[in-house]
Amino acid sequence: MRFVSILCLLGAVQADYASQVVQEYTLSTAAVAPAQSSLSSSDQDLIKQSVADLKKISSNSTLSHCDKCKERLSYGKKLAQKRIDLVPNVFTQWCTDTGLYNSDDCGHHFGRNTVERNNMGSNFADMVSLMDPTTYDGEYYCYYMEDQCDFVEPPKIDASHLWNGTKPSKYNVAPEPGNETFYVLHVSDFHIENDYVVGGEGNCTGGMCCTPTSWNRDAIPKGYHFSDGELFENGPKDGWDFYNSTYDGTSYQKGSYIGYNESNWSPAFSYGHYKCDAPELLINSSLRAAMKYDKKLNLGVEFAIFTGDLVDHDENNHVTFDSALKAETTAFRDSKTMLGNIPMYSVLGNHDSFPYAQVAQSKYGFSNKFDWNNELMAEMWRDYGWIDYDTEQEVKSHYTGFSVTTKRGLKVIALNSNTWHMQNQYAFINMVSDYDSFGQFKFLVDELLESEKNGQRVWLMMHVPAGEDMLPTASNVLSQVIERFSPYTIAGIFNGHTHRDEFKVLYSNFNGSNTDAQTADNAIAHTWIAPSVTTYTELNPSFRFLEVDTKTHSIMNAYTYYLKLNETFTNNGTEPEWLLEYDARSAYDINWPKSSPLNATYWHEVAQQVKTSKTALQKYENYATRFSPYTYDCSSSDHCEQFYCYVSTFSIDQYVNCCKHYGISSGF
Ligand SMILES: *[C@@H]1O[C@H](CO)[C@@H](O)[C@H](O)[C@H]1NC(C)=O
Ligand SMILES: *[C@@H]1O[C@H](CO)[C@@H](O)[C@H](O)[C@H]1NC(C)=O
Ligand SMILES: *[C@@H]1O[C@H](CO)[C@@H](O)[C@H](O)[C@H]1NC(C)=O
Ligand SMILES: *[C@@H]1O[C@H](CO)[C@@H](O)[C@H](O)[C@H]1NC(C)=O
Ligand SMILES: *[C@@H]1O[C@H](CO)[C@@H](O)[C@H](O)[C@H]1NC(C)=O
Ligand SMILES: *[C@@H]1O[C@H](CO)[C@@H](O)[C@H](O)[C@H]1NC(C)=O
Ligand SMILES: *[C@@H]1O[C@H](CO)[C@@H](O)[C@H](O)[C@H]1NC(C)=O
Ligand SMILES: *[C@@H]1O[C@H](CO)[C@@H](O)[C@H](O)[C@H]1NC(C)=O
Ligand SMILES: *[C@@H]1O[C@H](CO)[C@@H](O)[C@H](O)[C@H]1NC(C)=O
Ligand SMILES: *[C@@H]1O[C@H](CO)[C@@H](O)[C@H](O)[C@H]1NC(C)=O
Ligand SMILES: *[C@@H]1O[C@H](CO)[C@@H](O)[C@H](O)[C@H]1NC(C)=O
Repeated sequence: MRFVSILCLLGAVQADYASQVVQEYTLSTAAVAPAQSSLSSSDQDLIKQSVADLKKISSNSTLSHCDKCKERLSYGKKLAQKRIDLVPNVFTQWCTDTGLYNSDDCGHHFGRNTVERNNMGSNFADMVSLMDPTTYDGEYYCYYMEDQCDFVEPPKIDASHLWNGTKPSKYNVAPEPGNETFYVLHVSDFHIENDYVVGGEGNCTGGMCCTPTSWNRDAIPKGYHFSDGELFENGPKDGWDFYNSTYDGTSYQKGSYIGYNESNWSPAFSYGHYKCDAPELLINSSLRAAMKYDKKLNLGVEFAIFTGDLVDHDENNHVTFDSALKAETTAFRDSKTMLGNIPMYSVLGNHDSFPYAQVAQSKYGFSNKFDWNNELMAEMWRDYGWIDYDTEQEVKSHYTGFSVTTKRGLKVIALNSNTWHMQNQYAFINMVSDYDSFGQFKFLVDELLESEKNGQRVWLMMHVPAGEDMLPTASNVLSQVIERFSPYTIAGIFNGHTHRDEFKVLYSNFNGSNTDAQTADNAIAHTWIAPSVTTYTELNPSFRFLEVDTKTHSIMNAYTYYLKLNETFTNNGTEPEWLLEYDARSAYDINWPKSSPLNATYWHEVAQQVKTSKTALQKYENYATRFSPYTYDCSSSDHCEQFYCYVSTFSIDQYVNCCKHYGISSGF
């Protein structure tokens, strides 16, 4: 009974946050600028003139695409310094008139922010007012955001002043593990699809499928039934799961059969669809399954980590301020209900902001636009008993980043990787001259220095891995920091974001081309990229238990569980069973001492297998996608050719150079 009443209270508190947050946000965006209709005639003239000037740049045939983009930014900067409020009007108009994107996308990129739609134009205006378009700021903005410049190597930044040039004082090896372990749950990338419709169209035209508005522009052929489609050759043809089942608290309630639209190509089942994000039922099911295994196997899970992304991938169509907020609060509420007293330490992902991936530095004056998110997380996590008062303050003042020390003495440092994300426009401001404008590297290094001094081991968690969608400067600096504090202090690095179950090894003194540096001795750190709960796209949902050495907090093993989603399609509404997929220690048949942790040297051995053995390469792909019906056959396509460079590099520049070295496409 008491449990129930606490939940009701939490529900009420949460509703309160939401309405307060919406009000604040509406006020702060409304204040930015008037709508077009209320513009004075002199403002309208200024807009006209500016659009004409931008068009002149666009049609100047002596300039390359890249130069044009940078010139436009310089023009935008001058305009912003005079009238920052008119920048969205001018660039949206210019974008639409010149057809850079279709008018919808022009609105998303340059249109004024509103609570109704994921526009980023006000953030663009903020950025352009402060960036230096003639430097890497412009170069990388024009590469990442507008695809007008080529990728360039990042400049060399020497980050060692962050630790004052000190070397690890006593040790450059990790401490030896003891002989006892405990367990931690790692979940990632929920991507809850709030408007998921059981029976809706999962093979849709445009945008996110399985929503109330999903449809396919092509009608199904006469007599077609979805079971004629792919995936259904082998399975039974009845017991279809189109039930509105739910979890009530922690208990499963089989719902009523609600059916599907017979005109659909590929209707959405109760537990999900391979082309859609996760229905709430799937998220509940994953956490419930984890807790059942915790009990059944007597694991005694001590805490959970969640490595980001609560909101779905519908940002170009249906994600509004309200729906982003709802996804964040719903997914954390469900986690709290299922996990009970087990604390969950979390980070936000690139989807967990509004607009998408945006967050501003506190030093440049725009961070109040994002305070709602920091405050929401801080207060919710504290209410759920996951963090204490002091940490709550840290979360609020640190873009939701924080550090906690567990009862066993491990420090967990959580960072907001949006500060370095390549679609966060604020991150382009002075990205080289002030590469730590968010202060997050200083925060991280200060925490690491303190732990090093105390002989305390540290886990690092953030959404985006260093070698993924991170600006190359930040990616390189982050790698330098990790190299400096590994393997003595850093005992584990945990990411999400890719949805694939992957890893990456960091070698010391390695730049991507000097491949002779990729030795067992030089392997000093690695990251665990966690599999997602969402099936988007074409994946089986998954979570894992980490088995942790109590003395050193090194990872001794990782047990990954999955749900064969296609088998839920015909479960006739009954609760499906999640199964052990594999454990990391036995996965690749590496001869590894029982008493040694699965450290960077172990993953170096795995990387070598991936490089030299076709069987291991295929295993890597199988695990990455959790044996889904869409898992690639590595022998019949070049889909797997980048995997070795992917797992044997850490930062973006290393990855690009590695692909160059082996003559394969890096995608950059
Ligand atoms: C085109 O750009 C170049 C370089 O900025 C400039 O010198 C030239 O005047 C421009 N031409 C026109 C027609 O604006
Ligand atoms: C950095 O080094 C300088 C000179 O050796 C020293 O004065 C200073 O206290 C050091 N700062 C830190 C934070 O260690
Ligand atoms: C673990 O190690 C401790 C101290 O080294 C020893 O006393 C204990 O017996 C060991 N336990 C097991 C299960 O091996
Ligand atoms: C599905 O379950 C319903 C009861 O909920 C039952 O009447 C029906 O026979 C079942 N169908 C199959 C194919 O098992
Ligand atoms: C998920 O679990 C939460 C908490 O028990 C519950 O409120 C919600 O209705 C559940 N939703 C579904 C679809 O299971
Ligand atoms: C499930 O569907 C039935 C029949 O359409 C409806 O009465 C019931 O309220 C629904 N339950 C939930 C939890 O949505
Ligand atoms: C079923 O789907 C078809 C094709 O998209 C659509 O025209 C029709 O309105 C849908 N029916 C219902 C009841 O939603
Ligand atoms: C999806 O729809 C297209 C037509 O738009 C059709 O060609 C294709 O076979 C469909 N795939 C599935 C799995 O339904
Ligand atoms: C990497 O390092 C090697 C050896 O120090 C050097 O020869 C090579 O030019 C470097 N490559 C890049 C891309 O910096
Ligand atoms: C990993 O463990 C092995 C075996 O104990 C050890 O030789 C190696 O130095 C360790 N590697 C790291 C990076 O700690
Ligand atoms: C589900 O997918 C897996 C992987 O493709 C396949 O082996 C299995 O037969 C499928 N199950 C059903 C019921 O279709």
